[in-house]
Amino acid sequence: MSKRNLSFQSLCVKEHKDTKTTTPHQLPVYATSSFVFDEVEESVEIFTGKKQGHVYSRYGNPTIDTVAAKVAGLEALDTQLEPFAFMTSSGMSAISTLCYAICDSGDSILTQANIYGGTTELFNKVMLRHGINPIYTRHTDTDTLRSIVSENPAIKAIYLETPSNPMLDCVDLEAISAFAKEKGLITIIDNTFCTPYLQQPLKFGIDFIIHSATKYLNGHGNSISGIIIGTDDDAKVKIKTTLKLMGGTCNAWDAWLLNNGLKTLTLRMDVHSRNAMELAQWLSLHPAVEQVNYCGLESHASHIIAKKQMSAFGGMLSFKIKGGQQDAFRFMNKLQLCTQAPTLGDVDTLVLHPATSSHLNIDKEIRESFGITQNLIRVSVGIENIADIVEYFGQVFE
Ligand SMILES: Cc1ncc(COP(=O)(O)O)c(C=O)c1O
Repeated sequence: MSKRNLSFQSLCVKEHKDTKTTTPHQLPVYATSSFVFDEVEESVEIFTGKKQGHVYSRYGNPTIDTVAAKVAGLEALDTQLEPFAFMTSSGMSAISTLCYAICDSGDSILTQANIYGGTTELFNKVMLRHGINPIYTRHTDTDTLRSIVSENPAIKAIYLETPSNPMLDCVDLEAISAFAKEKGLITIIDNTFCTPYLQQPLKFGIDFIIHSATKYLNGHGNSISGIIIGTDDDAKVKIKTTLKLMGGTCNAWDAWLLNNGLKTLTLRMDVHSRNAMELAQWLSLHPAVEQVNYCGLESHASHIIAKKQMSAFGGMLSFKIKGGQQDAFRFMNKLQLCTQAPTLGDVDTLVLHPATSSHLNIDKEIRESFGITQNLIRVSVGIENIADIVEYFGQVFE
């Protein structure tokens, strides 16, 4: 039947032939669940991996794959490496997909408790139930690492976050990667706070990078997504299979929003870093402040490590206000320029009370042993004029 003979109803339903004749300037959003084939043999070739191509957006999609490849290229810039990258539905799905892909039941992961609370909860409440056992340490002392690893032969991977959320503690990437290689362990880093603009873990020999791309990579707080990056071909197959079958794939629209955000990443990170340094210095001189945690300050315990592996110190800091939880709450409620929101890395300055939000479900004793006390406030310093930020902070203290 020729197309001209189709009925009105059928013409409405049928996709019209694509009229594209020129290349779009901007990456299109491929809002499609599946891809079509002229001949079934072509579909078989793609399904069996003999031919490159897209079949179903849970398996891969041009918008998503293009953005993933862009971030992989940024992580590997100035290296000889050609990493793969997969975008996921969130930072959490990047962590869980990767861990389930490379670990088996009975394996242990050596991790830190002083990281994003959701990651610790994932290890304790989900992965543990499926036989993947978290072991906690600080990752800062090689002798302790050595003795934990020798006592726990089931340890398969080292998971780290540097700088950590919300205390900005850093792990020496060169040292931990050398240790892991000596012991045959896999290394995974959450590079969310830095982005590849400030820190490129692959250069230090780290095996896998995950991002909550929801944060600085996007920068505008309008999408949730994650990324897994690595270089090992066997792992790539396992990750691809796990992602496809557990279904934590990103969607094209969120990938597209990330692509937009990436275009201004360097501009934003430069201003975030400059503003955070200025606010940290100002806070550290204020009589109402007990302690400032910013790895750009010489007084921070991780400053030397941060200086070695980061090109700037980023936009995240936390501080302890003199007093307790009520004083922290009162301060946050009065801070009008800043937004109270449980996220970070957006262009506007955001404040959060970790003990009652991001780290609420971490055991209080453990939380406090890492300094996450009731008077701690986390600040994701935005790209506003720093004079305004400082003035607003000053007014609230008064
Ligand atoms: C450092 C870090 N990693 C991972 C995540 C999880 O990311 P998402 O919310 O995109 O799942 C967060 C969330 O706040 C985070 O702060």
